[in-house]
Amino acid sequence: MKVSIIGGGGLVGSCAGFALQAGGLVREIAMLDVNRDAAEGQALDLLHGAAVSADQTIRAGGYEQVADSDCVCITAGLRRKPDESRLDLINRNVDLFLDILGEVTRAGLRKEATVLVVSNPVDVLTYLAAERLDLPATQVLGLGTLLDTIRFRSLIAEYLRAPATQVSALILGEHGDSMVPIWSGATVGGLPLDKYPGWNPHAAAELFTRTKGSGAEVIKKKGGAGFAVGLAIAEVIHAMVLDSRRVLPVSTVQSGCYDLRDVALSVPTQVGRLGATGRHAVELWPKEIQALKNSANTLRQTLDDVLRSR
Ligand code: 2OP
Repeated sequence: MKVSIIGGGGLVGSCAGFALQAGGLVREIAMLDVNRDAAEGQALDLLHGAAVSADQTIRAGGYEQVADSDCVCITAGLRRKPDESRLDLINRNVDLFLDILGEVTRAGLRKEATVLVVSNPVDVLTYLAAERLDLPATQVLGLGTLLDTIRFRSLIAEYLRAPATQVSALILGEHGDSMVPIWSGATVGGLPLDKYPGWNPHAAAELFTRTKGSGAEVIKKKGGAGFAVGLAIAEVIHAMVLDSRRVLPVSTVQSGCYDLRDVALSVPTQVGRLGATGRHAVELWPKEIQALKNSANTLRQTLDDVLRSR
C-alpha cells in the first residue's frame, strides 16, 4: 500500500511517517507539505534509516502523489493553543482543510482509496471530507477517539502497574471535550477492571480527566503531540494494509449505530482494506449511551454552525 501524508513536514505527519516506517508494512510513504523543505527533510531523515528498517519507497512530493495512493492521511492544520478547545480551532482549520480537499480532488483519488483525517477538530473535518470527496463515506475515516483510547489504556496501566497492552478500555464519541469513557467493558488481562488488584474506583474520575486533558497537557509541555498520534495512525493504516478488520474507535459518518446519524464520531468500527467495513454497537450502560448521544448533539451543533457560515 502507498500512503501519502499531507502535513508530512510537521510533528504529527512526521511521527506518522516514522511509525509506518518502523511498522514495515506499507510499501511506500510520500511526505507532502506546504513547507516543501520540511517534507523533504522528514523524508530524507526517514530514508536514512531504511537500511535497518524496511524495504520501502520513501519520498517527498506534491499532490501528484495522491493519484496512485491507496491511503491519504491528512494531518495538516494549525495546532490548538493550550487553553483552546479543539472546536475553537474550527474556524482556523476548516478553510485550510477545504483547500486541501480541493487539491486532493483535483489530483484525483483512486476509487478504492481511503482517507484518514487527523487534523482537528477531527470529527467535524471527517464529516466535511466524507461530504466533499468523491468516495463512499465508509472509505473516509477520522482518527477520532483511538488516540484518547490508547492514552486512557496507557494511563490506567501506569496507575495499576499493569501491562499496557493488556488493558482494554474505550473512549467513544467526540475527540474532544464531550468524549465518553466506557468503564462498562474495561478489563485488564481479561479481568474486569474493578476486580483487578489495586483498582480504586475513586481513581476512575482522575484517570479520565487526565486522559481528556492529555492533548493540552502535551501541548503545554512540548508544543504538541506526535509519538502517540503517529502510533494511532499506524494502527489504523496497518488494519487497512492487512485487511485485518480490527475493531477500532475511529470516527466515521454514522448511519444508525446507537441510533446515531448524520454526524461523524467514534464508535467501535471494523477497519479493513476499504476503511470502515462495519460498526459494532457494543453493549453500554444507559448513562454511556446518553453521553454518546450528547457528544453527537455537540458535534451536530458545531457542524450546523460551520455549514451555515460557508
Ligand atoms: C491530541 O489530542 C492532536 O488532537 C490531538 O493531541
